[in-house]
Amino acid sequence: MHSVDIAPARWAQLLARQNHPETQPAESADAAAALYGPLADAKGPFVLAQVGQSLDGRVATEAGDARDISGPDGLKHLHRCRALADAVIVGINTVKADNPRLSVRLVEGQDPIRVVVDCHAALDGSEGLFRDNGADVIVFQGSDAPLRSYANAEVIRLQPTSGGLDTGTMLERLNSRGLNRILVEGGAGTIRHFIAEGQVDRLHVAVAPLIIGAGPSGINLAAVATLAEAMRPPVTVYDLGSDTLFDCCLRPQPLSSR
Ligand SMILES: NC(=O)c1ccc[n+]([C@@H]2O[C@H](COP(=O)([O-])OP(=O)(O)OC[C@H]3O[C@@H](n4cnc5c(N)ncnc54)[C@H](OP(=O)(O)O)[C@@H]3O)[C@@H](O)[C@H]2O)c1
Repeated sequence: MHSVDIAPARWAQLLARQNHPETQPAESADAAAALYGPLADAKGPFVLAQVGQSLDGRVATEAGDARDISGPDGLKHLHRCRALADAVIVGINTVKADNPRLSVRLVEGQDPIRVVVDCHAALDGSEGLFRDNGADVIVFQGSDAPLRSYANAEVIRLQPTSGGLDTGTMLERLNSRGLNRILVEGGAGTIRHFIAEGQVDRLHVAVAPLIIGAGPSGINLAAVATLAEAMRPPVTVYDLGSDTLFDCCLRPQPLSSR
């Protein structure tokens, strides 16, 4: 297991790599570079999905309490990922349940553009992210849903497929706006669409040492009949401090490097 304890000066170097993609990657081969380099150095489309969960794979209680499942170092990791991303994507249920700000508060860095997948136009405009004067908001809506627009948000309407909104099309729309480094923050329904459609380069599962016992899980893919059909990605394990991170490589070669 690799230990990741990032001093402010080291974090500043990683941020500089993200802001100046012309700089050469991997000026140092430490655990921080191995963990954050793929996102920081991406010169084209790169998708990281991240889940913060309990030892028994839950992301909330049955009653919906989801606040601070991750410990302080897991939360810091999430904020580092946000700071390195151009845009962070969440599903409509997460906005409704958690009213998240999706901002960078625990480390230095810029807030990413906030993107909500709202296939059926269920956002009503009262949600915090439309009113908090934070980073810009983009809403992906199905073109068959009632047309809804919101103050301070761009609405992009997409023709739904039988599986919902096509994640590749969403990523293309974001890429065309210069948003290449994408963090898919959840929940499970949203991450499922991106993984099932083969769009995720890395999956970070940050495990906090608590057992909730029941409640929704953070990763919820289609069922397989046998363990031989289970995904077994190459995984590197990092000791973040309060949490343990499993960095799963779902696509060895990012699209941009092909
Ligand atoms: N701990 C963490 O890391 C973390 C992070 C974020 C959220 N959460 C928790 O996760 C829970 C919410 O998760 P969730 O899975 O219920 O909801 P969600 O992922 O926030 O939203 C799911 C909704 O968005 C729709 N959606 C997502 N991608 C879509 C696509 N490509 N096309 C069409 N529709 C799409 C889903 O439609 P379909 O039903 O058709 O798929 C579903 O209606 C909350 O309890 C929240 O606290 C935990």
